[in-house]
Amino acid sequence: AESTFSESKRVLLAAPRGYCAGVDRAVIAVEKALEQYGAPVYVRKEIVHNRHVVDTLTEQGVIFVEEADEVPEGERLIFSAHGVSPAVKQTAADRGLETIDATCPLVTKVHREAARFAKNEYHILLIGHEGHEEIEGTHGQAPEDTTIVNGPWEVDQIQVPDPDRLIWLSQTTLSVDETMETVQKLRERFPNLQDPPSDDICYATSNRQTAIKKVAPESDLVIVVGSENSSNSVRLKEVAKDYGAKRAEQVDFANQIDESWFTDAATVGVTSGASVPDVLVQDVVRLLSEYGYGEPEEVVTAEEDIVFSLPKEIRKAMKDAG
Ligand code: F3S
Repeated sequence: AESTFSESKRVLLAAPRGYCAGVDRAVIAVEKALEQYGAPVYVRKEIVHNRHVVDTLTEQGVIFVEEADEVPEGERLIFSAHGVSPAVKQTAADRGLETIDATCPLVTKVHREAARFAKNEYHILLIGHEGHEEIEGTHGQAPEDTTIVNGPWEVDQIQVPDPDRLIWLSQTTLSVDETMETVQKLRERFPNLQDPPSDDICYATSNRQTAIKKVAPESDLVIVVGSENSSNSVRLKEVAKDYGAKRAEQVDFANQIDESWFTDAATVGVTSGASVPDVLVQDVVRLLSEYGYGEPEEVVTAEEDIVFSLPKEIRKAMKDAG
């Protein structure tokens, strides 16, 4: 009887999930910096928004700071994957810091668009979460010419200098559906609103959302592995609920899973945010098997093969070291 029971308890593992190319690059950049220069290496803000990654790098000799002015003069500072404003780069330069820029190239792309459109006298409607580091960095490219729009509910209140010279840009890790709703509302109000040259929500964010949209309707419980301050992980939990998961929970680690969540949960969907190492997902899968769930079945909605080259400063250091 027990084996029949366990066969009926399924695990659906969303794919793609976990590390994106920008996170992989940023974490490797810090590891290589430690190797090449030795500890301590300073990083402004969390290199990526994941508790496990930050704790592991801290043990290896990384010192995380909030701002460049906390770093002793002449030391080495890495900018996180979320990107920085020109003002932050200036502070670092003023202190004579050696900097390594681990900004995701897909965030840098948005920065360039912001600078270029501002120069061409557009006003930028930047869709994203005020206070998130990425939005601070993108807003900082052209602070006088940018208005942050947190979501569709803000569209009616925003004020713009010229409704005929507007472009929208966005944070890379938003909900695809909600962003489209915001854009639609913006266009109703400003019919001449221009679209960005290419999508700002990155491939990793949209692929992870597509995968969980397929898993969620079949799941009684969806477990999203990812830290609370990880924007794309929080979106995965919301999307899971919107797409029919009876319950969706987010954890940093398997040991935060409460066994009461498994009550009446015949099928458990599992995914993870773009900053989450897959070992943490494997811990969850192991825990599920201890509770009688079967071998995970992968639900694959896309293959990813994007890889970014390391920051130029790191490539140079590695080359010089032979
Ligand atoms: Fe870059 Fe998207 Fe990852 S912007 S850091 S590839 S979530």
